[in-house]
Amino acid sequence: MTHVALDGTFLAINPKMTELTGYSEEELVGRPVAEITLPSDIAGDRPFFQAAREGRELQVREKRYRCKDGRVVMVRLRSALVRDEQRELSYLVNVVEDLDLLRAQEESHQQAQKMDQLGRMAGGIAHDFNNLLAVIMSYSSGLADDPTLGTEQRADAEEIRATARRGVLLTRQLLAFSRREPLRSRAIDPIACITGLERLLQPLLGDEVVFSWHVAEGTPPCLADQSQLEQVLMNLTINARDAMNGKGTLWLEARSVAVRPDNPHGLEPGVFAAFELRDTGCGIAPEVLSHVFEPFFTTKERGKGTGLGLATVQAIVHRLGGAVEVRSTVGVGTTFTVLLPLAPEDAPRDAEEELPSTPEAVNHGEHLLLVEDDPAVRKLMQVVLARAGYRVTVASNGAEGLFIASQPGVELDGVVTDIEMPLLNGIELITRLESSHPRLRGLLVSAAFGNHQVPAPMPRLGKPFSRTELLDAVAKLFRP
Ligand SMILES: Nc1ncnc2c1ncn2[C@@H]1O[C@H](COP(=O)(O)OP(=O)(O)OP(=O)(O)O)[C@@H](O)[C@H]1O
Ligand SMILES: [Mg+2]
Repeated sequence: MTHVALDGTFLAINPKMTELTGYSEEELVGRPVAEITLPSDIAGDRPFFQAAREGRELQVREKRYRCKDGRVVMVRLRSALVRDEQRELSYLVNVVEDLDLLRAQEESHQQAQKMDQLGRMAGGIAHDFNNLLAVIMSYSSGLADDPTLGTEQRADAEEIRATARRGVLLTRQLLAFSRREPLRSRAIDPIACITGLERLLQPLLGDEVVFSWHVAEGTPPCLADQSQLEQVLMNLTINARDAMNGKGTLWLEARSVAVRPDNPHGLEPGVFAAFELRDTGCGIAPEVLSHVFEPFFTTKERGKGTGLGLATVQAIVHRLGGAVEVRSTVGVGTTFTVLLPLAPEDAPRDAEEELPSTPEAVNHGEHLLLVEDDPAVRKLMQVVLARAGYRVTVASNGAEGLFIASQPGVELDGVVTDIEMPLLNGIELITRLESSHPRLRGLLVSAAFGNHQVPAPMPRLGKPFSRTELLDAVAKLFRP
């Protein structure tokens, strides 16, 4: 805000004006406005002061100031005439707005809205797509683990499963970007966060990138969702690695910073926690820099990048109530700064890692003897059962199974065996083991039960079976 006499000299300025132009009140008061006006804009001021002196209505106008440090700022002035007690024209009050800042804020607002819409769309697609992928994964898993199929067919099915899994990772990215995942915000201690993350980052970076970090003394905990913050730092790290072509230095620093009232991000002024990631990579050209946060913007070749990394970073950070800044010099490197709000005193502390509960890991780690003479089928069943949490000991025929079971210290809870085997068939094996191990439960597996005299109460599973059918049948042995 300024007070200006009708002849165009400054009468008073407020601290905001000092902040904008760099001139103190003493330096401006008594001096003509024209002295800090860009010469080409002085002519435009003349009719304005003329109108003021005649007491006419004053228009909102835009003009440029030359600041003390030589910078030019574009401002918008709203002016009002002040009269004295005798109703005589006295002086002008001008409200001065920094137009560059206003534009930056407007742009950032529009960008946020655009991202929000895109996020909704991406989220919708990702959600439906995830369901499709779940179906593809489940059927291909069944085929890949089906012991009755040929090796080649199972390899094909495994390929489908692996591809679908990549699709799942991509939709997860999209979901993170679209902010659909609920936030679990808590107080995060920067040192604990970075030490925890180092384990994940180092392997990403490879041996030829020197990674070091520092947490400035007194950096307070920030308020964030741990896994989302990790994703932010991971995405930035991967970009840095790519920019350095696997060779260089990556520096991560955490500290607190004061955010000014007129920041371009529209953040509430105050102290924020900053994570700054500085690489010695190729840098980003100025014409590219303004696009890097756009979704699907990438300079990487097809298949190498989706262009969602930084869009996700920005979406997450905005959602956490912070902002991301980037500075870069081509050939020197790039610095990304993530600003996050500080955690209030009563914010929940960082809890211990919660273990994800996988539906398969519900058994109690029973010890199974798996007897099957076909090595490929044996391997598959072993993998399925072991992944589900069982301890599995394998044997390739009934006699070997019997031998293993009779070893001292071998405690078996169950036996899963094929029927058709040389020397000692599955039925005989189960019968003999049950008499020596009364608590042991047996499951018979066969493609042709009709060829055998199977005792009625003996649980059985027909081939071919799916992974789920196998797991269900084994689980029923212990929890009927
Ligand atoms: N540290 C960096 N140094 C140089 N360029 C960078 C850096 N980080 C990002 N960029 C540029 O910004 C672009 C967009 O990055 P972003 O992470 O959004 O997508 P991407 O890395 O290309 O693909 P994605 O992350 O989805 O696999 C990159 O293609 C690259 O040109
Ligand atoms: Mg990326």
